[in-house]
Amino acid sequence: MISHEKKLELLKLAVKAAENAHCPYSNFRVGAAVLGKSGKVYLGGNIENVSYGATVCAERVAIWKAVSEGEKDFEAIAVIGPGTKEAYPCAQCRQVMVEFGLDWLVISGDAQGKYLGEKTVREIVPFPFVPSALLGEQA
Ligand code: THU
Repeated sequence: MISHEKKLELLKLAVKAAENAHCPYSNFRVGAAVLGKSGKVYLGGNIENVSYGATVCAERVAIWKAVSEGEKDFEAIAVIGPGTKEAYPCAQCRQVMVEFGLDWLVISGDAQGKYLGEKTVREIVPFPFVPSALLGEQA
């Protein structure tokens, strides 16, 4: 369980992460901050490419930074998009989240980091394709 203050802090960090987004094609600036169970936070902004399909979403940038640093157990990820609407991850990012568990939190905010809601990974991915489907019960 993480406190509401911690959620707000993660949203602020997601806003900071969005500052470094590279999004010259869509101009759709996204920021993510993922909190590992170690207590460390990893930031990501979306990184677009002139070959559009090579673009990576903010959420995956943050998660891959964490995993590449040895962190695979997560408490929560805060995601912010441009404007005032809720930002929830795309389907590819949701699948990447499922890889690391179903019972962690996705916190959604606006461009200013205002809290707009939260869901568990389980809630945003019904009928998930989980690692144990391939790897057996130990996964
Ligand atoms: N994007 C993200 O970073 N996260 C999402 O959850 C949705 C989409 C990025 C990808 C692309 O750079 C831009 O937003 C427009 O799709």
